[in-house]
Amino acid sequence: MNTPTRHLITSAIPYVNGVKHLGNLIGSMLPADVFARFCRQQGHETLFICGTDDHGTPAELGAIKEQRDPREYVNHWHQFQKDIYQRFGLSFNHFGSSSRPQNTALTQHLARQLHQQGLLEIRSETMLYSHADKRFLPDRYVEGQCPKCGFAKARGDQCDGCGSVLNPTDLINPYSSISGSHDVELKQTSHIYLKQSQLVPQLRAWIDEQTHWPKLSRSIAYKWLDEGLQDRGITRDLKWGVPVPQDLADALGDPTLAQKVFYVWFDAPIAYIAATQEWATAAHGEAQPTTDIPLSPQAARWWLKNQGATDVHYTQFMGKDNVYFHTLSFPCTLIGSGEPWNPVSTLKSYNWLTYYGGKFSTSQGVGIFTDKALELLPADYWRYYLIARAPEGDDSEFRWTDLQSVVNKDLADVLGNFINRTLTFNAKHHGTSLPPLGEVTAMETQLHQNLQTTLQKLSHHLQEAEMRKSAEALRELWSLGNEYLAAAEPWKELKTNPERAQTILHTAIQLIPFYAATMAPLIPHTAEKIIALFPQLQTPAFQAYPWPQNSLPNSAITQVATPSEVLFPKISDEQVAEWEAQFGNSKV
Ligand code: 2FM
Ligand code: ZN
Repeated sequence: MNTPTRHLITSAIPYVNGVKHLGNLIGSMLPADVFARFCRQQGHETLFICGTDDHGTPAELGAIKEQRDPREYVNHWHQFQKDIYQRFGLSFNHFGSSSRPQNTALTQHLARQLHQQGLLEIRSETMLYSHADKRFLPDRYVEGQCPKCGFAKARGDQCDGCGSVLNPTDLINPYSSISGSHDVELKQTSHIYLKQSQLVPQLRAWIDEQTHWPKLSRSIAYKWLDEGLQDRGITRDLKWGVPVPQDLADALGDPTLAQKVFYVWFDAPIAYIAATQEWATAAHGEAQPTTDIPLSPQAARWWLKNQGATDVHYTQFMGKDNVYFHTLSFPCTLIGSGEPWNPVSTLKSYNWLTYYGGKFSTSQGVGIFTDKALELLPADYWRYYLIARAPEGDDSEFRWTDLQSVVNKDLADVLGNFINRTLTFNAKHHGTSLPPLGEVTAMETQLHQNLQTTLQKLSHHLQEAEMRKSAEALRELWSLGNEYLAAAEPWKELKTNPERAQTILHTAIQLIPFYAATMAPLIPHTAEKIIALFPQLQTPAFQAYPWPQNSLPNSAITQVATPSEVLFPKISDEQVAEWEAQFGNSKV
């Protein structure tokens, strides 16, 4: 037997600061979950890692705002987010945290390696200092007017108006976002720079090979390379973060650097590795590293080519604003370390989900937040809708009426109706027994052929992590069932040819567990509900939903219960009107 490829899957780790919105969910975590579930169903050993991004200004500012100690603030919001994702059915093997000791150890280790490879240097620079706050103001602590598009509230790291990556000193009329004070001046400070420009040939050669990445991922990477990749400051004048170790500060010739921390974008992607170490300890117990890299063998076998990771296919999921960091800056860390890290194999990136064409925004409170969403509708409604509208080729627009239409048509009218209709009809005539399969006709043969073609399509799209096309193929499977019932008309056959009616019913009922297994990556809660109706399928093996090879009847099934409730109650016009009034129904 061939050893199946092992799949390492990471989703961009969301900033810890508060509740995330639906755009964050569909922009990385949800597609990653669909893909992870599919890989597991196919029997691949799969490790799906995510966590919270605990450092940097979002966390420090958030803690200041809530008047909490950063540690307490981070712990609170980490747990809050973790609970929500669990309710959405996100099947992380581990949901870690970038502020745990594992990440400190790995981040410091990699920085020391980069120094040994001659890729770090100290640069003195002028930065904005706020007299009111008595501190330097890096990145997001500074706001002001964007020099490129004129947007009034651009941040020191990026402009939300035009998407440009900025330096705080680029801003016109800068002010402190902590105190709002304009009493700021430029002062000298020193920072560690990673000489990314020296790694350009290796990066370009590596990206040239990634012809299977989506266009969006590659074009962003090339844009940066073509414009000339700049060296990047990897430390900040903050208190909260991974500290620069004293030995490194001394080795670089400036002991005061140990009072600074690494830049959040330096340590955040390293947290994928650190969270794997957290997982390894939780799953396999404490184990000593076998090299000077602070990773136990169980974690190293996912990440290090000389420790068994050569058969690992590593897929990353992220929003398009994260592509630079994953195609260039994180690879610089890994390649530059001189160690045999397993680089990303497939990099999936997403455009924006917009709220009526405008931006979902955490800071402005625009759009729908994940906690609120679950108060309104079950997780699978959101999962299905968001996957069907995943912003893959382009941005996609959320509208309440669109949600209503997708849910009511696909889930209620097509899937729900097929299952409820079939099982209610069966209950009426056969109770909880499955009627026997008699002689099959061309109709059944054709049905299975059509299902097979669509199943292959679905498998292919899931393999490629193509969300929209997966949802389309799934809906096509459901439609085939409905069309079969409509054409075979068991209710008519019952009067003249009861045996034929039984065969039709048997065939239709057998499609239900087939549907459960194939819908499980997208709508796992519904899959579970459906499987619970079949007593013979209550086995651990079936609970893992092996990916079906075909739609043919399973002879082990002889019993089926009737659902006690409608599977997918429709979204009413009244609900839509109420939600539009509550959340708004226009661009903000
Ligand atoms: O954009 C974000 O939400 C970042 N916190 C993503 C970090 S992904 C990675 F690098 F860890
Ligand atoms: Zn701008």
